[in-house]
Amino acid sequence: MNGAERGELERLRDAVSDLIGFGFEADRIVQLGVALWPRVQELGLSGFDAYISRLRAPEHRAAETTAVGSLLTVTETYFHRSYDQIVAFLDQVAEPAARSRRLRILSAGCASGEEPYTLAIALRERFPDIERWDVEIVGFDLNALMLKKAEEGRYSAWSLRALPPELKKKYFRKVERSYELLPAARSMVKFLHQNLVEPGVWPFEGFEADAIFCRNVLMYFSPDVMKTVVTRLTSSLRKGGYLFLGHAEALRGITQDYQLCHTHETFYYQKRPSEQERTEGREESEQKDSTAAAPAASETISWFEAIHAASERVMALAKRGELEGAPPSSLFTATLGKEKLAEVLALMEKERFSEALRLMEALSPEAKEEPEALLLFAVLMTNRGNIEAAETACEKLLARDDLNAGAHYLKALCLEHSGDEEGAREHDSIAAHLDPTLAMPRLHAGLLAKRAGDLLTAQSELTRALGLLAREEPSRLVLFGGGFSRESLTSLCRTELARMGERFE
Ligand SMILES: C[S@@+](CC[C@H](N)C(=O)[O-])C[C@H]1O[C@@H](n2cnc3c(N)ncnc32)[C@H](O)[C@@H]1O
Repeated sequence: MNGAERGELERLRDAVSDLIGFGFEADRIVQLGVALWPRVQELGLSGFDAYISRLRAPEHRAAETTAVGSLLTVTETYFHRSYDQIVAFLDQVAEPAARSRRLRILSAGCASGEEPYTLAIALRERFPDIERWDVEIVGFDLNALMLKKAEEGRYSAWSLRALPPELKKKYFRKVERSYELLPAARSMVKFLHQNLVEPGVWPFEGFEADAIFCRNVLMYFSPDVMKTVVTRLTSSLRKGGYLFLGHAEALRGITQDYQLCHTHETFYYQKRPSEQERTEGREESEQKDSTAAAPAASETISWFEAIHAASERVMALAKRGELEGAPPSSLFTATLGKEKLAEVLALMEKERFSEALRLMEALSPEAKEEPEALLLFAVLMTNRGNIEAAETACEKLLARDDLNAGAHYLKALCLEHSGDEEGAREHDSIAAHLDPTLAMPRLHAGLLAKRAGDLLTAQSELTRALGLLAREEPSRLVLFGGGFSRESLTSLCRTELARMGERFE
């Protein structure tokens, strides 16, 4: 590809991003060209530059949004997809709404409608009096062809594959080889052609939704677009309302407006109260912190203790200089100052924990309360074996930023130490959900599962940890590796897996 062709593809990528928000890495722009070329041919245009002009012309915007959307998105969806989340919705959102009998729900990126219709069926099944409720379920998508299918309400057996047979019988009528949704559930859902990133056009401002489902949509967007889209969704959600995302999507690094919920073996988010209410809550929780009783000591040797023991002797095994030039961990924002952060990390890497701590202690009272400082302090306290101080720092950090994966991991270590292995597993699983690239929660979860005799989970977690360790950022290993080098941690995973292999035989 010559420079002119690359330039043309880059302009195409920018036009597509402006139209529907999709992000394309530099190494994928050729694929973008391949995907959109059929559309250029279908329109009889001379090439991409002509197509770019069309993409930018207001009169073609709606048609091209659908065309580009259909060529670039996967519209795969089905009834009862990730049903754990639907049950969480029924219990956490719909049950409390039974008092007022009022519910507002958005299905953002609803494709051919299976998601909002699943909600309608689930509500009918749970609440026999739903006809007397004031319910509004709105599904929207940028793909007009999918919306047409949604409005027709006719589905293949494949779309109904996860639906229990009794519900299929009760809510559908067989028409030739398709299944037609009956009016009872169908009439509960309205559809709208709406692009989540259309500039200036957002009809759901102040919609006061009780729940928004935006599953398997955000993954297409660049981080900046994702922020804009989440801000829009937030403006449509009532305070305390819930946001359900796909399994591979998380709000880490996108917004602080939500707290993570983990129930029904699934994850979702709840919109936080206003800043003022949050500050009041914080003051209350700080008072609680200061009076919290010390956790009971565990009889078993925990990973926390192993870290404490190792932090003084094994750090020397970590490759010296590995940290040099490495970017500060992505778990940090720049507020504490990259230099100060790098200084503390460099001291930690050289096992100079006391100096690192002194550096932290010299921070101003305000700087000490910043999330970055709290996280570093929690790490230092963990390495020193000071569980109480580590846990207090974690609690404070999570009260400010409960989407902080590192804090959840450190909390898991503290809980394991105090004998609460179930709590530890929960926090490891939250950390892994919030940052699927973080190796240590996987490793820790693997060791916990092995100790509990759950060898299948142990094997799967340690295998994932092994893969992640190979790519883990050096600075994050210094922070969370507990004083062990990448090689030591890798070898630990391998040894544990090999031992289990023997036991499985
Ligand atoms: C994989 S489907 C997800 C369907 C359903 N939410 C689910 O999880 O089963 C993704 C849908 O998001 C829609 N989508 C992608 N970008 C969008 C945007 N900017 N505005 C509205 N819808 C969008 C696509 O058209 C597609 O139908």
